[in-house]
Amino acid sequence: MTVRLAVAGGNRGSRFDQVLGGLEGQIELAAVCDPSDRVRAEWTEGRPGLKAYSAFEDLVEDPEIDAVFIATPMLLHAGQALTALNAGKHVLSEVIAAATLDECYALVETVEKTGLTYMMAENYCYRREAMMVRNMAEQGVFGDLTYAEGAYIHDCRDLMFNTDLTRTWRGGGGGGNTQSSRGNGYPTHSLGPIAQWLGINRDDRLVRTTTFVTKSAARQDWARSVLPEGHVDTKDAAWSDFTDSATTLIETEQGRVICLRKDSASPRPHNMALHSLQGTSGAYISGRFDGESPLVWVDGVSPGVSPHNFGYRDKARPAGDGDLAGAEWQPLWDFSDEYEHPYWKQLGGEAVRAGHGGGDYFVMYDFARAVAGEIDPPIDVYDAVTWSSIFPISIENVKRNGAPIDIPDFRPEHRIYPAGEGQ
Ligand SMILES: NC(=O)c1ccc[n+]([C@@H]2O[C@H](COP(=O)([O-])OP(=O)(O)OC[C@H]3O[C@@H](n4cnc5c(N)ncnc54)[C@H](O)[C@@H]3O)[C@@H](O)[C@H]2O)c1
Repeated sequence: MTVRLAVAGGNRGSRFDQVLGGLEGQIELAAVCDPSDRVRAEWTEGRPGLKAYSAFEDLVEDPEIDAVFIATPMLLHAGQALTALNAGKHVLSEVIAAATLDECYALVETVEKTGLTYMMAENYCYRREAMMVRNMAEQGVFGDLTYAEGAYIHDCRDLMFNTDLTRTWRGGGGGGNTQSSRGNGYPTHSLGPIAQWLGINRDDRLVRTTTFVTKSAARQDWARSVLPEGHVDTKDAAWSDFTDSATTLIETEQGRVICLRKDSASPRPHNMALHSLQGTSGAYISGRFDGESPLVWVDGVSPGVSPHNFGYRDKARPAGDGDLAGAEWQPLWDFSDEYEHPYWKQLGGEAVRAGHGGGDYFVMYDFARAVAGEIDPPIDVYDAVTWSSIFPISIENVKRNGAPIDIPDFRPEHRIYPAGEGQ
């Protein structure tokens, strides 16, 4: 089956151009939708057969389209996904999937009602190291998992203003909560891989969370450096609803703790996929910067022991141990023969050629397979809304001075609606 796909939101969507080229026979680009004349013209140039829509509502009425990839500004995702599903289209949604709990409930209900395929395009779950660590975690290499960290640190201040000096959606234009509001506005790149390692929504679930945020300081520095003197956004007060850095803690039902950091304002080199994982027989830490090898230590396999008890000879330790060397990290890639994910073994070259570290390729590959009925969507609507719900909940956490808040279980067999919501 070839899925006839429309791309809505032609900027991020254009990153998938190469990806789609590599998936011939599985997915065919049938249409693009963007209100910008310039963006539509860029897409249709040299492609006489490509349909171009300026309005999403018209796009979803096209009977020659099977599925829509929603890559529009973040606050539009859920509403457009609902419109597309209700018009009979399968949906691949960019992150995050929903910005309010109401949207989360509406998405799960609509996917259940329509029976259509819905998947969130969380490409960080498909990075080579994330998939290999998942494979290792699922095979018990790290033992009983207890703790994980994730951080998305990406100075996006250059995306805050349009050329006419109005604010973009990332800069808070249009009002409402944004990626940089006082909460964790972009949790899924950090949380997605961790949730898969821990089996969230399968063997474990997210139970409660809190978020603390810093004041906004770097944003107004940037505003003062790029805007004319006297512009309203050069004033500190213009950024009082924003944060530079948010830290989220999540507790799971199995007694694990997840710590997330999201920072899209502080000046420093990017690190968009900083992760670590701790279990009772090993640990993983990602590279601190592009090009640094991710590392693991696996009890009984990697060099050294933990604890190594130097200087504590009167304390309990295994009999017969002499001088023991302390534990030492080793490159994750030392384990690739045994634990490389089959996707990366078979299709890694193709994925890397498609760009963006390979993740975008596997997102589209799995979406096509899910629409064709070969697999269930690996990041289904329940994962999408559970991970995304951290955004609205974190905003509320901050309003309540950090008081923890329960995370809803959206799965049908466990779903409980807050008083006054849902059926
Ligand atoms: N997964 C990733 O690695 C990744 C990377 C970049 C962006 N994103 C996500 O992709 C989305 C888009 O990001 P971006 O950087 O392209 O944003 P952008 O603001 O640069 O571009 C958004 C595009 O959507 C178009 N648009 C606006 N309203 C629309 C509508 N109603 N219907 C159709 N198109 C519309 C705009 O004209 C513009 O071309 C965001 O949600 C962002 O978070 C994800």
